[in-house]
Amino acid sequence: MTKRVVTLAHYYTSPEIQQMADKVGDSLELSLYAKEAQADIIVFAGVRFMAETAKILNPQADVVLPDAGSTCSLVTQTDVAALTQWRKRYPDHVHVSYINSSAEHKAVSDWIVTSRNVDDIIAHLYAEGKKVIFSPDRNMGGYLNYQYDYDMPLWSAVCEVHDKFNETALNEAFDAVPGEKYLIAHPESPLPVLKKADYVGSTSGMLNWVKNYQGGAKAVIFVATEDGILYNMGLARPDLDLRQAPIYAGCQCNSCPFMKMNTVEAVKRAQQGEGLHIDYLSPEQMDAARLPIERMLEFSQRYYA
Ligand code: 13P
Ligand code: SF4
Repeated sequence: MTKRVVTLAHYYTSPEIQQMADKVGDSLELSLYAKEAQADIIVFAGVRFMAETAKILNPQADVVLPDAGSTCSLVTQTDVAALTQWRKRYPDHVHVSYINSSAEHKAVSDWIVTSRNVDDIIAHLYAEGKKVIFSPDRNMGGYLNYQYDYDMPLWSAVCEVHDKFNETALNEAFDAVPGEKYLIAHPESPLPVLKKADYVGSTSGMLNWVKNYQGGAKAVIFVATEDGILYNMGLARPDLDLRQAPIYAGCQCNSCPFMKMNTVEAVKRAQQGEGLHIDYLSPEQMDAARLPIERMLEFSQRYYA
């Protein structure tokens, strides 16, 4: 019998890969597609933690990552044994972890969040009188502490891509534009960059901001995130002057090496069943990691439905 293959791609993959996918989205959207997918094989053109999340949410499916090397610096910079020790220092806190984390990391978390719902979930926990620790992204956590006056203890890992955006290069780029200009940014960027932004949000949030843009037609819109999303923004609003924020003068070249391991050849091979099969998580590990993810999905359905 022919196997049903569903291909999912994150916005940070290159345009050719997005064109090969059944669904393209941000982390939250792809988790929901993976959960509902009626598929024998889910090809996940993204990075490993995303493929693991898909497997945890849809354990019957054979989830295949096209290139085994597609990791994420937020995962590689987090030693889970050390994280577990850190967590023990705050026994009366709720441990909220960003979805950019390994299955093992999720299993020692109380809540999982994505960049789309992190603000609302943490606000909800504070409103209930809870104290929160946040891992692994110190830029995202630092921004939340700054923006909402929280005092969350933070784990210290960064996205090696977003962490490269810097204020000096941005100021120079801004100065070179005489007229109207805007900055929209992903919360994995450093705080000085986020403080300058007109909008801070997830990849889908930024895409929606661009779709709904009503400002001047000649404005320059700088985008502080991975370059893949510029493709989707350009498709949605070909009339706008959209530019990736620079990481140094003249370089609009900030790309995630792990996302870009999803080449056309690797994705085609994965659709034939070749690649890293996410078959190494035990049922117990998956159950422990599923709990905080389901908590997030249930919250999202309740609040965003
Ligand atoms: P989103 O949650 O916005 O899709 O971001 C995922 C990611 O890896 C950002 O670097
Ligand atoms: Fe990880 Fe950053 Fe790449 Fe996203 S862009 S997958 S956070 S390294």
